[in-house]
Amino acid sequence: VYSGRRLARVLRPALELQCAALAALDRGQPAPPLSNHTSAGLPVTHLAGFIDALAPSLPWKQPHGTHGLGGSGDDIDDDWFVSLQSEGASAVFAACDLLMQLQALEGGGGASGGARSLVAVGALSYHGPASSSFGGASSSFGQVRYPVPSLLSARDGGPGECPEAFEARACAAIDDWLGRHGDSVGVLLLEPQWGSSQCAMPWPPSVLLHLARGAKECGIKVCADEIMCGLGRHGLGGGVFASSSAVLGVAGLVDAVTFGKGLGGGAGDVLAGVAVRKGAAALGAAGRTALQSHTYSGASSRALLTATHVLQELPRTSSLVAAGAVAVGRNLRRLESESRGGWVCHGQGLLWGGVFAHRDQSVRAQAVIRLGEHCDRLGVDVYRVNRTGGFMVTPPLDAAEQPLTDDNGHGKGEDQGDRDGGALEEAMARLRRAAVEAADDMDREIGPRRDGLHMGIVH
Ligand SMILES: Cc1ncc(COP(=O)(O)O)c(C=O)c1O
Repeated sequence: VYSGRRLARVLRPALELQCAALAALDRGQPAPPLSNHTSAGLPVTHLAGFIDALAPSLPWKQPHGTHGLGGSGDDIDDDWFVSLQSEGASAVFAACDLLMQLQALEGGGGASGGARSLVAVGALSYHGPASSSFGGASSSFGQVRYPVPSLLSARDGGPGECPEAFEARACAAIDDWLGRHGDSVGVLLLEPQWGSSQCAMPWPPSVLLHLARGAKECGIKVCADEIMCGLGRHGLGGGVFASSSAVLGVAGLVDAVTFGKGLGGGAGDVLAGVAVRKGAAALGAAGRTALQSHTYSGASSRALLTATHVLQELPRTSSLVAAGAVAVGRNLRRLESESRGGWVCHGQGLLWGGVFAHRDQSVRAQAVIRLGEHCDRLGVDVYRVNRTGGFMVTPPLDAAEQPLTDDNGHGKGEDQGDRDGGALEEAMARLRRAAVEAADDMDREIGPRRDGLHMGIVH
């Protein structure tokens, strides 16, 4: 999530805790607990600090997020809760389960066999059966797909369609879908900015708002899955969650938001979870808890301590995310032209990506293999998404402040560093070169054909 000294700063407190524990154990003295068996009811150390650091970022804590459909705003302040999990897939599963249970308690159905038994997932999305279906790992039982805007649609758009006309068409498709499924869906999962399934594409904001509002009006509970775009990566206004941002305007419509294991800084102790806007009292009174809530979920003192520092550091990096966004965006625009339309790029904050401009998924996947080969040769890493046929760029949030170093990690000196624009510019230049060479390879292998992908709707 961070790099250099900042990363060291957020990781150090957990290491010091561990060193203190080891020193105490060596002396035969009581040691601070490094993790807790959460079902044993023992106090989890460092939990309170983590919750204090997380709370102000939640969508319903924003001035524009307190009043949404289905919540008056007055009664939610002390009724929100968090279910801590170990990693993202469990957090998504817990989110579906908890929101379904709340639907059931409110008479809306869910697991108890009522009318609202389905989980809605984007037609193209991370949320396949394996991560959020209650019906088993290999079937989509319990799920229904909603239409999503995409560059990877069948040829239903075209170069002639203006953004306004496309957005109106996408909203109409959502209305049609809600008309057919609005009464049978309990929970709708959405990614406020796409991850791997759409290579970091941001939603047209008006379509995202239309979906969230329409779902809420039908009585569906909306969960924003921010495991990919959260923790400030989206860059929208500098906050932790995209769905808290005034830019998207969905804060009042979100019933739950998931967060992923970047919180733990990648040091090994994993921590993820879901915050739910309302329902602590109702679930408590009914004696219910998350179906999947295992004994070591959120149990690591080290992870909670690191997560607290990761969150506390975020406000200090928002200007760096903004600077990084400019650098990455400029380079990816250049890539689009240097590859003569071979790569179509998009993104915001420090979550960007590109798709190879070809309708055929196997051709796109081939282009990603070529891209990977050139990246390996040129010494740059990129998030390769063969399945989608594209790549994602997800640098550390503070990458824009990293100076240029030589191959041995030695500083290149200020003059050189200034001229080259630092490590992020250098990495982006290498990525551009790798991607242009991959496009050239594809020209040789399949001919210089470009599909000039256009926005369409995947059902
Ligand atoms: C949107 C989204 N949700 C959930 C997950 C699952 O996270 P994890 O790999 O920690 O289980 C991912 C992982 O990439 C993701 O992109």
